[in-house]
Parts: sequence; C-alpha cells; structure tokens
Amino acid sequence: MEVVDSVEQMRAARRSLGESVGVVLTMGALHEGHLALVREARADHTRVIATVFVNPTQFADGEDFSQYPRTLERDLDMLRDAGVDLVFTPTPAMMYLPDHQTTVEVGAAAEGLEGERRPGHFKGVTTVVAKLFNLTQPTTAYFGQKDAQQVVVLRRMVRDLNFPLQLAVIPTYREADGLAMSSRNVYLSSEQRIGAAALSRALLAAQWVYDEGVRDPAVLRGAAMMALESCGGEIEYIAVNDPRTLAPVLAARQAPLLLSLVVRYGTTRLLDNCLLPGDLNIRAGLTATLGA
Ligand code: PAJ
Repeated sequence: MEVVDSVEQMRAARRSLGESVGVVLTMGALHEGHLALVREARADHTRVIATVFVNPTQFADGEDFSQYPRTLERDLDMLRDAGVDLVFTPTPAMMYLPDHQTTVEVGAAAEGLEGERRPGHFKGVTTVVAKLFNLTQPTTAYFGQKDAQQVVVLRRMVRDLNFPLQLAVIPTYREADGLAMSSRNVYLSSEQRIGAAALSRALLAAQWVYDEGVRDPAVLRGAAMMALESCGGEIEYIAVNDPRTLAPVLAARQAPLLLSLVVRYGTTRLLDNCLLPGDLNIRAGLTATLGA
C-alpha cells in the first residue's frame, strides 16, 4: 500500500492505477463502517484509493474540529489489511493554499436538516469532495447511508457539475445493539452509550408502523419519538423527507420516505436514518433512491 501526502504525489500515483478505481473518502478514526465501504470498492474495482483528511471547512464554528479523533497509524493498518492500494493523507495547508477562494455550493438539498443546523457544513463537504474527486479520479466513489443528506447533496453536485463517476451508497454498519458506527461514538459516556441504542430502535419502530400500513409522517415520527423516550439524550429532530430531493413530507404519500433523526448527548450529536419501506435499505435500493 502506497501512502502519499502531497497533491503532486497523489496525481502521479493516480496515473499508474489505470481505469478501474474505487474511492473511499474519510476523515479517519476508522471503524467497521468505513471498512464496509472499502470492501465494496475492493469487490467492484481493480484498484482502491482511500483518503484520510479531517476537513476543517466542513466544521461549523464551535464544532469539534480540533478534538476530532485522529488515529492515522491505526487507520493505515486497517486500510492495508482491507487491501487498499493507495492512501492520500494531505494536511489542511496542502488542500487549502493561503489564497484559496473557490467553493462549491449545492442549493435546496443542502439547506434543510443538517444544513440548517450546521451552517456552512455542506459547502465545506462539497468543496473538499470536488477537490478529492479531481485528485483521485474514481470510477466509483463509495458513501454511507449513515450520512444520507451528504449522499443526496453529493449526487446533486455530481450531476450538476458533470463529474465523470458513479456514486455507490452502502448500508449503515451497526454495533451489536444497533447503534450506527460513528467516529464520534467515542465521545459517549458508558451511560449515554447504552441509551444511544434507542436511536436504531426508533427507526425500527417507525418501520414497524409503516409495515402496518401507516403513511402519515406525523404518526411515523410519533412512533420513533416514543422509542426515543429512554435514550437519555435530547431529541434534536425527527424528520420525514422525500429521499430524492429532501423536501419535507407533510402529508401521507405512497412514495418512498426518508426518516432521519438526531439525538444530542451534551455536545455530541448522533445521527441515524432509514428509508421506508425498509427493503430499500440495501445497496441497490439506496443507490436507486437517495438523491436519484
Ligand atoms: P466520515 O465521517 O469519516 O465518513 C466517511 C464515509 O464513511 C462517509 O461516506 C460516511 O457516510 C461513511 N460512514 C460513516 N459511518 C458509517 C457506518 N456506520 N456505516 C457505513 N458507512 C459509514 O463523511 C465524511 O467523513 C466526510 O464528510 C467526507 C465525505 C470524507 C468529506 O470530508
């Protein structure tokens, strides 16, 4: 496995990899969820590139940029074991020259949900992902359902700016008790960690009533809300949106729905989501539905 940290080395290394390249973009502090993306990339492509870059521009003021866990040596071991060919680990100074002045910003899809609560977040994501796409030139880039709005926003960007690549969406990888794996789970106390299992139970509760025929978004949200009563955190939102556009869904409808929720434990925000009907939460269903 080759590890490069400069833009020039990255470009040179990319040239020798050939046509079939899968890319997994990360901020490091890797866990099994990230590796699930790597495994899919490995299965689909001759070569796999991973990037590890804690992108300062996607952290809003007062967020955890300086505290974000950094575990590069361990990350590299995990990527090597997973069969990655090339890892790009730039520094912020390499990615953003002092006179950097260009950004990429998506419209409506980036405005609600996380976009509303984290000002500037998606502008930071789309700008860095555009740069990383240009540097790594993937055939396919792999993203997790866990960050469903990120997928919808990036798919919009890829279409609107004609990036020559495919996006693949991979189901959320979970701990044994259902908690979605996240680099931020390390911030939880042991009590909060136990309570946090309620997030996935809330998604299951909504899925259950959906399967009973309920389509009213208020009732679906209510089912999730009840299951969250024991979570021990503060419920920031439970939302029902159109998974293609992220427009809020206010009345019962038959089309697929995206149910997302955020629970806050102190300053740690945990996100989770599911598509309804539940059988869309597989790679093919996700790729065909989120932002499509
Ligand atoms: P990061 O949070 O490190 O996540 C990297 C990728 O792993 C994202 O596509 C994310 O959705 C996916 N992922 C995270 N947890 C997952 C889980 N439990 N199961 C499956 N996939 C999971 O998302 C980012 O970094 C950044 O915004 C980035 C795209 C790298 C741009 O800076």
